[in-house]
Amino acid sequence: MDFENIITEVEDKIGLITINRPNKLNALNKATIEELHHAFIAMDENEDVRAIIITGAGEKAFVAGADIAEFSNFSVYEGSQLAAKGQELLFNLIESLETPVIAAINGFALGGGLELAMACHIRVANDHARMGLPETSLGLIPGYGGTQRLPQLVGKGRAMEMILTAGMIGTEQALMSGLINHMVAQEQLIPFCKKMAGKMINNSPVAISAAINAINASFSGSGYKKEIEAFGECFGTEDFKEGTTAFLEKRKADFPGK
Ligand code: COA
Repeated sequence: MDFENIITEVEDKIGLITINRPNKLNALNKATIEELHHAFIAMDENEDVRAIIITGAGEKAFVAGADIAEFSNFSVYEGSQLAAKGQELLFNLIESLETPVIAAINGFALGGGLELAMACHIRVANDHARMGLPETSLGLIPGYGGTQRLPQLVGKGRAMEMILTAGMIGTEQALMSGLINHMVAQEQLIPFCKKMAGKMINNSPVAISAAINAINASFSGSGYKKEIEAFGECFGTEDFKEGTTAFLEKRKADFPGK
């Protein structure tokens, strides 16, 4: 299959997916989400792929979020559809894939980018990566499962702080809080992930997929639905208009208030 926004490779039973929009810091637009959906399904169905690594092209970003330019004019309905479709097509798909997925975080992982990394089974980041869920600074909330998966990984208190402050954390703090599994130098990022994948590919793929399923079983709940509804409602607010317009105009948002 030909892709415009991603690059896929398979070598030694390991699939590598690279999101390739470096000029937009690999922001997730609709086309990229659809291509990733097809690439993950194809790799999962490929007998020769026993583990998958996902990373971002360029030196700056893993993924700097959902593509703000693409959704800034959306209605409440379109907003909730954006979250619902994205969760179904990509984020839930990755989480419940039979093949293990490792996120190799090579720089900024913000908003939808961090949500993408959190949907993966394991996260490894380079030592200068910056991670955060900045949506509240745009008049939004995370809509691709971030309000659910962040507390699962770091606990409710730390998740509240990250989401309400919209702040970014560095790799050391991410490691300490359990958001990532390992921190390595950039030149070691892909080799380290391949080494970890190498350990998985010697194990039973049937048992690995059963383990993923069993581990996931205690983490599903009605929160994802609540998130989609609340995300959609944000699109009807003055704060959302101000937040996204300010980003696109490269200025600080001035929110009207409650
Ligand atoms: N959606 C759309 N475009 C994005 C984007 C996003 N989430 N993140 C970055 N870009 C684009 C910028 O608009 C810019 O495009 P341009 O060169 O055509 O103007 C380009 O990528 C480079 O980004 P820029 O902001 O100039 O880089 P920077 O080094 O000054 O800042 C960030 C880097 C990551 C701090 C900044 O890009 C940022 O805050 N991005 C948005 C993060 C966010 O809120 N994500 C959540 C979305 S829900």
